[in-house]
Amino acid sequence: MTIKFPNDFLWGGAIAANQVEGAYREDGKGLSSSDCTPNGLFGDIVDRNQNNITGIKDRAIDFYHRYPEDIALFAEMGFTCLRLSIAWTRIFPNGDETQPNEKGLAFYDRLFDEMEKYNITPLVTLSHYEMPYYLITQYGGWGNRKVIEFFTRYAKTVFERYKNKVKYWLTFNEINMSLHEPFTGVGLARNSTKEQIYQAIHHQLVASSQAVKLCHEIIPDAKIGNMLLGAVAYPLTPKPEDVWATHNENHGWLFFGDVQTRGYYPTYMRRYFKENNININITDQDKEDLKSTVDFVSFSYYMSCCGTSDDSLRQKGNILDMVPNPYLKASEWGWQIDPTGIRYLLNLLYERFQKPLFIVENGLGAKDEVQPDGSINDDYRIDYMNDHLVQVHEAIEDGVEVLGYTSWGPIDLISASKAEVTKRYGFIYVDLNQDGSGSLQRRPKKSFYWYQSVIKSNGQTLKIKSSNE
Ligand code: BG6
Repeated sequence: MTIKFPNDFLWGGAIAANQVEGAYREDGKGLSSSDCTPNGLFGDIVDRNQNNITGIKDRAIDFYHRYPEDIALFAEMGFTCLRLSIAWTRIFPNGDETQPNEKGLAFYDRLFDEMEKYNITPLVTLSHYEMPYYLITQYGGWGNRKVIEFFTRYAKTVFERYKNKVKYWLTFNEINMSLHEPFTGVGLARNSTKEQIYQAIHHQLVASSQAVKLCHEIIPDAKIGNMLLGAVAYPLTPKPEDVWATHNENHGWLFFGDVQTRGYYPTYMRRYFKENNININITDQDKEDLKSTVDFVSFSYYMSCCGTSDDSLRQKGNILDMVPNPYLKASEWGWQIDPTGIRYLLNLLYERFQKPLFIVENGLGAKDEVQPDGSINDDYRIDYMNDHLVQVHEAIEDGVEVLGYTSWGPIDLISASKAEVTKRYGFIYVDLNQDGSGSLQRRPKKSFYWYQSVIKSNGQTLKIKSSNE
């Protein structure tokens, strides 16, 4: 079979403001929750108003100043799309101001104009793992209903400002992650109760649907989606208890997509709340707001996992605690590699949501070695991505509508979980060490040319391997 993706398939990469931009207090930017977790979202929470320790994310890869060079490299690879996020704190530094910060707005104008030069379509996430730190300390994060209003003010501001430049939007990155890391997800303390976390999540779901409504009003020709961490679980064994535990495990994250695509809370979630004595304040107006559903569903996919009724088998995975699959190999970071999982997930989500899908993160975090001649031969990354893309194509053949694929971290960036630099995802190497030293010079890896040929041929150069390869 020859591989060929749809003609209008969007090819590109995905980055997030707090993992690339740096310039963390420049041009009026306020402190964000990400600035206050300098060692990554699993690291200590540091109030940097009191204790301004520095962190690798403060400069990151200095995309704030070097974006023209980076966009040119993305264009050289043939990108037709770049997923990026706007740092809320560049636009509203504290989050509760009534007037936006013009310098922050101007930065993204310059960035979108640069992309336009190369016909790269922006796909913009409104909130990627960060919020104004001030809203956490002064208002209690998303636990406070008022934050919905601050968020929609921010969303309205950027929709109005960029309405002629940005036609693809996402609301909250990996919205289901808050259940596992509430500080980063909803600005709550890590020891918050389930009830507090679900209440904050509810506010975020309402804010997401209000943003969808605003986007449709302000930019009628735009499409706006949600973003899920695609943590698909297979039953560890055919034991009925394991199958049911897996069903519940998948409901734990599919629930977010159900609300965002159907416009109401599913019955299984209402039962879960009742049985666990979780009381959520949902107003009539909230119910009305939730009816504004997304145009498409986007997700990240790095690995699959297993579901079991035996909780003691859980291990730390990406953001979640996961049960490993005995049939799969893992990356250097223990993330299990399962290309078939992306086909399975695409089919599952399409059948469930009946909305177009967008793969907005996928990739391999690995240690790269620069050879004496300066080359970086990242065949492992090429293999990983080749095998996943072959399965994406299979899913398209299965009938799944896939809008595009933006691989995670097309340029090396700071990893989210532990703020590591050694965990590299890029097609472009960045000379940066964990202690912050390094010239920040950019250099294409072998995968750069590989991805360039995949995009140019619209997938035809992908290799279908026999099962023993
Ligand atoms: C996703 C996030 O969970 O995974 C990204 O949306 C993140 O922000 C990516 O970088 C990979 O995780 P990590 O920890 O390897 O950077």
